[in-house]
Amino acid sequence: MTSSDKTLKIYIPRDAAAVSVGADELVSAFEAEAQKRKLAIEIIRPGSRGLLWLEPMIEVATPEGRVAFGPVEEKDVASVLDAMVANGPHALRLGVAEEIPWLKKQTRLTFVRCGVVDPRSVEDYIAHDGYRGLARALTLDSAGIIADVTTSGLRGRGGAGFPTGIKWKTVADTKADRKFIVCNADEGDSGTFADRMIMEGDPFVVIEGMTIAGIAVGATKGYIYIRSEYPHAVEAMNEGIAAAKRAGYLGDKIRGSAHTFDLEVRVGAGAYVCGEETSLLESLEGRRGIVRAKPPLPAHKGLFGKPTVINNVLSFAAIPFILDNGAKAYADYGMGRSRGTMPIQLAGNVKFGGLFEVAFGITLGELIDDIGGGTFTGKPVRAVQVGGPLGAYFPRELFDTPFDYEAFAKRDGLIGHGGIVVFDDTVDMSKQARFAMEFCAIESCGKCTPCRIGSTRGVETIDKIRRGERVAENIAVLQDLSNTMKFGSLCALGGFTPYPVMSALKHFPDDFGPVPTRLQAAE
Ligand SMILES: Cc1cc2nc3c(=O)[nH]c(=O)nc-3n(C[C@H](O)[C@H](O)[C@H](O)COP(=O)(O)O)c2cc1C
Ligand code: SF4
Repeated sequence: MTSSDKTLKIYIPRDAAAVSVGADELVSAFEAEAQKRKLAIEIIRPGSRGLLWLEPMIEVATPEGRVAFGPVEEKDVASVLDAMVANGPHALRLGVAEEIPWLKKQTRLTFVRCGVVDPRSVEDYIAHDGYRGLARALTLDSAGIIADVTTSGLRGRGGAGFPTGIKWKTVADTKADRKFIVCNADEGDSGTFADRMIMEGDPFVVIEGMTIAGIAVGATKGYIYIRSEYPHAVEAMNEGIAAAKRAGYLGDKIRGSAHTFDLEVRVGAGAYVCGEETSLLESLEGRRGIVRAKPPLPAHKGLFGKPTVINNVLSFAAIPFILDNGAKAYADYGMGRSRGTMPIQLAGNVKFGGLFEVAFGITLGELIDDIGGGTFTGKPVRAVQVGGPLGAYFPRELFDTPFDYEAFAKRDGLIGHGGIVVFDDTVDMSKQARFAMEFCAIESCGKCTPCRIGSTRGVETIDKIRRGERVAENIAVLQDLSNTMKFGSLCALGGFTPYPVMSALKHFPDDFGPVPTRLQAAE
């Protein structure tokens, strides 16, 4: 639809979070209302800006910029349309979107276009500085691209925080007739949704990042492994790939260069362990997702036995900024060895939940109290779990911990994929510890004993503690079991499950019965 100056441009997100609270219905309602009034409107469907408590948050183009309203319900459509036409006041009017403090406080390097552009339009992506990273990459050789990625300090955003440049160099240096790029979009961590949001809201940034990786290491084919629970992301990535191909950004002789790179989406079958890189490769090859022993590393022998770069969605999505603006522009943000920004996801019992991209170094307390606004229920925050189901529980006493890989590790925690789940003072921490063991038992691939058997014994032991049976002895058993799992498991599923369990026990001993008293009694 071509829009004249008189046409009202309305932006209604197509992000799954917005759709789940009625965004699609709003599209029909606005169309019907406009037709009734014979008003020319154009509806554009971007991703979400990430202020999830305001969804569906819709916007209208005005001379001052895009003005937001939210959360908008169908009953509000007529009055919101009045306010849009008049550019006047409304109870749901939030002002110019970019000026909303929650958004303004962020440093959006990776998510800069999310919620802004039309994710189905490669032209819109280019109009918002897209594909500039690739243009620069095409002027560099492999070593030049990898040097930029290394100097940027980018570390894998999937959880382990491994330096991306080193991984790419290993694949580039490994001789083979074929190499692959794999994007890990399994996003199984509790409280995380950044991969989904960026795939739905800015698929081309992921495609561009993977294309640059392919050129850097000499791979001609890439796969995006997306969990089956993300149908909107699957559609967005498939449409994005088709559009990029039509525009000459994928396929043979990319933008007239000598490089070939193609992409394909594969949908996972729904197992947490399929997010583990070797298990994911098994699944991609058509087998059951079981962890492979390392070595060989996927960088040496990965997909179909060929050298493979496997990175998280957010790692690839950070690449275009780095290539476009230079490694230093990225590395200038952050603290210590955690460089750049982290798209943090605030979830659980939190007042202002959503996607908050910020430089490393912000403290947990700032994130929970200032940005998140405390709990949704209004009760005091008692604990937060950072880094998914394998992450530690932190009490308020640790809220001075800065968001930094090393600072979290020092306190027996991990930042993982950047998900934070908030709990109020009604939480029972022994129940949470039991949940961690139960989750591990259900999701274990079964390859190694400490995880397969240990997790089930863990559930049983916590049940005994919760029933008050020989609490002190059973706590000792739980500690012993946790150590066996931590040091004896083949992968981090079994190896990290002790972190939520032990942190719950350490920081919230009272929830495991009147522990001090019982310990004394046992002595
Ligand atoms: C049980 C388990 C589940 C994982 N799930 C994911 C996941 O959903 N997404 C992801 O990117 N990495 C996940 N990882 C980490 C991957 O194994 C791997 O480190 C990552 O994909 C590498 O990419 P990065 O260097 O960009 O982080 C998981 C690891 C384990 C042990
Ligand atoms: S730790 Fe668990 S998930 Fe990992 S290889 Fe062993 S059994 Fe499989």
